[in-house]
Amino acid sequence: MLSMQPIGHVRSPYRDSQDIPKGLGAKHEAEGVLEIRAEFEPGLTDIEGFSHLFVIWAFDRSEGCDLVETVPSDDRPHGVFATRSPRRPNPIGLTVVELLCRKGPVLHVRGIDMLEGTPILDIKPYLSSVPQERLRRGWLAEAEARSGRKP
Ligand SMILES: C[S@@+](CC[C@H](N)C(=O)[O-])C[C@H]1O[C@@H](n2cnc3c(N)ncnc32)[C@H](O)[C@@H]1O
Repeated sequence: MLSMQPIGHVRSPYRDSQDIPKGLGAKHEAEGVLEIRAEFEPGLTDIEGFSHLFVIWAFDRSEGCDLVETVPSDDRPHGVFATRSPRRPNPIGLTVVELLCRKGPVLHVRGIDMLEGTPILDIKPYLSSVPQERLRRGWLAEAEARSGRKP
């Protein structure tokens, strides 16, 4: 078993899962706050230089897990590890947010898709070296093509 302690909590405009945009073409532009516990504040040193961050967090209000599931982006079932479903064996979420500003232990961000009070497990600078032409988007690209949407 592993045990982890939250480094902080998300202050989000979303109190109900239904309010969070879902499905193909959903945009996550909501602003929110990552409130980091005072004891971890030194760990934020130099974070201001990064435009985007990976936020690793816990789906604390998700129950159970389906290894194959139909998610809001498609009407066909997919394996849990090929989706971003909250119902997974280890309920860990990953969100890329834009860092707007830091005020001490508080990070103001854009791109929230978590519920109010979600526990934050870790934060890392967002860096991607994968060129666009090497990215494959799997079943999502097929679902977008069937619906006539562009990514
Ligand atoms: C599809 S998941 C994607 C989350 C993250 N971007 C990822 O890829 O891991 C986003 C959904 O998780 C649900 N959710 C958000 N915060 C949650 C929480 N604290 N506990 C359980 N479910 C949550 C909401 O229904 C939201 O629409």
